[in-house]
Amino acid sequence: TEYTVAIEPLGAEVTCREDQTVLDACLREGIWLPHACTHGTCGTCKAEVLEGEVNYGDASPYALLESEREEGAALLCVATPREDLTVEAEVDVEEGVDIHPVRDYTGVIESVEEAGPRVRKVIIAADTPVSFNPGQYVSLASPTGEVRPYSIASTPQDPSRIELHIQLSDGGVVTEGWVFKSLAAGDRVSFTGPYGKFSWRPLREQPVVLLGSGTGLAPLKSMVRHVAETGSGHQVVLYHGVATRDDLYDKEFFTELDEQNDWFSYRPALSKDTWNDRTGRVPALLAEDYPRAAGNVAYICGNPAMVTDTMKALMKARLFPRDIYREDFFDSA
Ligand code: FES
Repeated sequence: TEYTVAIEPLGAEVTCREDQTVLDACLREGIWLPHACTHGTCGTCKAEVLEGEVNYGDASPYALLESEREEGAALLCVATPREDLTVEAEVDVEEGVDIHPVRDYTGVIESVEEAGPRVRKVIIAADTPVSFNPGQYVSLASPTGEVRPYSIASTPQDPSRIELHIQLSDGGVVTEGWVFKSLAAGDRVSFTGPYGKFSWRPLREQPVVLLGSGTGLAPLKSMVRHVAETGSGHQVVLYHGVATRDDLYDKEFFTELDEQNDWFSYRPALSKDTWNDRTGRVPALLAEDYPRAAGNVAYICGNPAMVTDTMKALMKARLFPRDIYREDFFDSA
């Protein structure tokens, strides 16, 4: 069964199957609605259901409170229609940020590289070009049908070669049970995307501070390479937080880029090791380097604790939330 979903205040209408989420129906039609996790936990996609009934799906009770549900709110990334709907969402696409409809893609694994002790760098040769903004992610499907989000580390300039950084999660059915166990060059894979509101803002010309931990480096690497490939002229500082030197990956690439370009600075933040005589996590090094951060634009990607601590350090240095973009990474098992 299919239903019609009207999106206010856009005045747009999409067709949505009864087993399809409202968000999916919109994103596939090129109607961008705010979203981040796409699995009912972050609350970014919360919207008002003005008319009609939905199934709430797997909405976390923390992301959608019982009282909000009673007042007519739903999480569109997990809500499916039970009849024709009218929903009201806050749609604020920033100028210069392109909208790329979500599509299903297939491809063949070009390489699986051991990037660090617990990180695999996977490159997929996509059968058709993938359009996305630097910073966005795809959902990769395992052979058993499990789906996991991974940020794209490659750039839109090379749309048929998708690079992902995958962190081992002990006991994880997708990482330990598949990617780290048997995934190899030549395997066929499928994925959907692009997803997420964490997108490079091309029109913001201020100096850029990129702050990542672990495989939170992936979307930031896409941004750095995008600036390099397009010659956008942005000044970029990249912090990468890990425990030791051995956990750093892509350090040759970033070190060389730093040495050869005035616009780029690479600053590993090692919590149990030193780099340029410094030891410390990302927020600590940031605070040292930026007593005042006003005038910059920051992009943060890491686990929720790292993101929160880094936000605090930036705000203490007088950077306002409107100049900070964040992506919370969860351990994806
Ligand atoms: Fe829907 Fe996170 S709860 S995008």
